[in-house]
Amino acid sequence: MRDNIKKRNDKTKTITKLILEAKQLAHAETDNINDAPIAKFPQWPINCVVGPGLEGAIACESKIGYVNGAKGLLIYRGYDIFDLCAYSSYEEVSYLLLYGKLPTANQLDKFSKKLISCRKVSDTIRLLFGFPIGKMNPMAALRLGTTLMRCEFTSDDLASGKVDISGIIHTDADSIPMETLPIGEQHAIYEFHQELKKGKIDKKTLLESANSEVACHRLIAGCASLTASISRMRQDKFPLEPREDLSHAANFLYMMTGKVPTAEQERIMDVSLILHADHGMNASTFASMVVASTLSDIYLSVGSGIAALNGPLHGGANEQVINMLKSIGSPDNVKKWYERACSKKQKVMGFGHRVYKAYDPRARILGPLANYLVSKSDSDEVKNLFKTAKVLEKEVLETLGKEKKIFPNVDFYSGIVYHVLGISPEIFTPLFAVSRVAGWTARIIEYLKNNRIFRPRAIYSGPLDKNYVNIEDR
Ligand code: SDX
Repeated sequence: MRDNIKKRNDKTKTITKLILEAKQLAHAETDNINDAPIAKFPQWPINCVVGPGLEGAIACESKIGYVNGAKGLLIYRGYDIFDLCAYSSYEEVSYLLLYGKLPTANQLDKFSKKLISCRKVSDTIRLLFGFPIGKMNPMAALRLGTTLMRCEFTSDDLASGKVDISGIIHTDADSIPMETLPIGEQHAIYEFHQELKKGKIDKKTLLESANSEVACHRLIAGCASLTASISRMRQDKFPLEPREDLSHAANFLYMMTGKVPTAEQERIMDVSLILHADHGMNASTFASMVVASTLSDIYLSVGSGIAALNGPLHGGANEQVINMLKSIGSPDNVKKWYERACSKKQKVMGFGHRVYKAYDPRARILGPLANYLVSKSDSDEVKNLFKTAKVLEKEVLETLGKEKKIFPNVDFYSGIVYHVLGISPEIFTPLFAVSRVAGWTARIIEYLKNNRIFRPRAIYSGPLDKNYVNIEDR
């Protein structure tokens, strides 16, 4: 797999060049911004100024990722995001986030093979087939999928004598159409685990703990398989078997579309996955850590991260960006639309950030990638969307950018990139989770090493010592 990724990166040198040019521009624009050096971690307890929504609160110490909002810097385990996008892969970055160092060639091969072996979530997908996926919020479906994975792969609910799931899977499984279809787009869905079907292997011996290291691998690999399968189910298509000969990014696109992506499509998907993998203590990462800190388990903690990411203030903004650009209609309409939005103090989707008060480095990379894809597309719709986005960006930078340091964030261009890659908008946020699950699991594992249940306070401002009044006297 390592050689394939090297070959792919060699074939897509134009994309590497775009990323390095974006890095150069970022440094040119921000190197002179003076910013306080990163504080050395003091001893607990520490003082910090905290605003509503825990703004400014220090929840823990971490070595996993660093976001510098003033300079627009994003670092994973000490490595600059521009370098990781230019030279690495999502598999290698997942290893880096989880284990704290870049893998040797053998370690990367072993890890990639482990992820490949975890792509198959057949029984979970069978069970998902029994739900109205077409009518369900895709993030709710993904969250359900991670819970069903917990049943498929872990022993945690068996130990206490709760329902033994192996029977349930076998009875349900037969209720799913099992036509054997020709290979390729119409490739049939999952074959049973034949050994299990014939009862050869006792499922219990195969099960792991929901807090094991392999749970992280299963979730990183499985969320991609689940999201691709949910996308196909929503189009009334059969899910496809994962392919073992493709990289993580290529297999994800293949499982979504039934087509093996070009080297460029694969590379751009891989860079997008790297860009979304971790981002400090954002709401979904914090949510997953809060659940993990109660000693729940990794599957259920990731489910909480998915739930938090579902909120439009966090995930989903890139889907809103596409809707916004479509409603603006054309570059000529931007000025009027923007003036009306400002008069209504309406938030412009894809702009602004709780931490970045400079250009989001992820948008610095996604913008040129969107431009590259659009320049190779013959779709007038896509070209119009991109031109509208560029004019809107200029408008915002000249006003909110100057007045309130409101810049494009990761979501402003990611929607256009995914749209050109043929991904439907309702899958944009699950795709965010497909990437962020690496950061969620890495931070959960790190926090559990010195765990302390999260339990902030609220200042009570309600009344005291009220006397109880009987209902007939109220
Ligand atoms: C992500 O935390 C993370 O790291 C998240 C994320 C990650 O990788 O995990 O980076 C992913 O969530 C990206 C953000 C995607 N969301 C959007 O694009 C939605 C639009 N953005 C806004 O909702 C907003 O910018 C937030 C929610 C992202 C940030 O909110 P803040 O910092 O709490 O900003 P705020 O609401 O306090 O705004 C400060 C001022 C306000 O004006 P005043 O009241 O001071 O006059 O800036 C204005 C806001 O009205 N403002 C905007 C704006 N964002 C902030 N005005 C217009 N358009 C916007 N987008």
